[in-house]
Amino acid sequence: MDTYFSLTKKILNANVDLFTRTKAISIDEMNIYNSTVGNETNCSKCNGRGYIAEVISEKNIKGHEIRCYMVLRECECLNDKKENRKAQNSGTQPLLQKTFENFMASSPWQKGIKSLAEENAKGKDWFFIGGQSGAGKTHICSAITNYQSRNKIQVNYMIWNDQINELKNFEDNTMMEKLKRVECLYIDDLFKKPRGQNGLPNLSTPDIDKTWELLNFRYLNKLKTIISSELNLEEVLKIDESMGSRIKEAAGKFIISVNGSERNLRLQ
Ligand SMILES: Nc1ncnc2c1ncn2[C@@H]1O[C@H](COP(=O)(O)OP(=O)(O)OP(=O)(O)O)[C@@H](O)[C@H]1O
Ligand SMILES: [Mg+2]
Ligand SMILES: [Zn+2]
Repeated sequence: MDTYFSLTKKILNANVDLFTRTKAISIDEMNIYNSTVGNETNCSKCNGRGYIAEVISEKNIKGHEIRCYMVLRECECLNDKKENRKAQNSGTQPLLQKTFENFMASSPWQKGIKSLAEENAKGKDWFFIGGQSGAGKTHICSAITNYQSRNKIQVNYMIWNDQINELKNFEDNTMMEKLKRVECLYIDDLFKKPRGQNGLPNLSTPDIDKTWELLNFRYLNKLKTIISSELNLEEVLKIDESMGSRIKEAAGKFIISVNGSERNLRLQ
């Protein structure tokens, strides 16, 4: 830091051009700003300030740099914080409280789920859990997602039947683009629709097409996807074989089916 201060002094005293002066001043400003500590976030990249100072230069018509400025760039941690706030204001807020620590594993089937989920949380393989309502599917998937988020991986929670309508909007594909590209996506309650006579949910063609588009993109780009559903994977395969087989391949051993109403914790 001292070197910059003395550099500024020297430059200001010397008879140098405006550009060199403003550059030295801007670098000083940048270094002072970047050495402060903030309490916006607990990020080490920006020391918790949420912003990182940079020096940019303005060029004249001939392409020569004529002036320098210090600007503040938003650090990615601030974006995560905004996303968290958004999640807190939406239906996904309760999911942030679900962790491995508060997932009870008193029965062997719960122990099995927990250990597989804990292993999955450390890597990029997909995770699929289907079956019995109230068995803790949303809880365990949220725990994986929250674990990833705590490890600085960018995550998104999608509640399928809430957000599928937004994905079907042909005029605005912002949500689709966001969910396609996020590093880790959790889709809760995939294909949750009332069941028809064949026992499968009554899905429209766009319901399936848009879900396929999202999952296929993530499959091709090897982006971690966590899925919970009242359907088991065999039922997903019946609805759309190419989608089910992609999930099957990407999740490998991380496919769980929970059966039996005695496993509904809401009824206990
Ligand atoms: N093993 C567990 N330890 C602690 N809490 C649990 C456990 N399993 C489930 N719960 C709690 O029971 C409630 C129901 O669980 P959850 O919502 O995860 O079930 P689900 O399988 O997703 O059900 P649905 O199919 O209806 O969405 C939640 O509040 C959840 O935190
Ligand atoms: Mg659930
Ligand atoms: Zn930061």
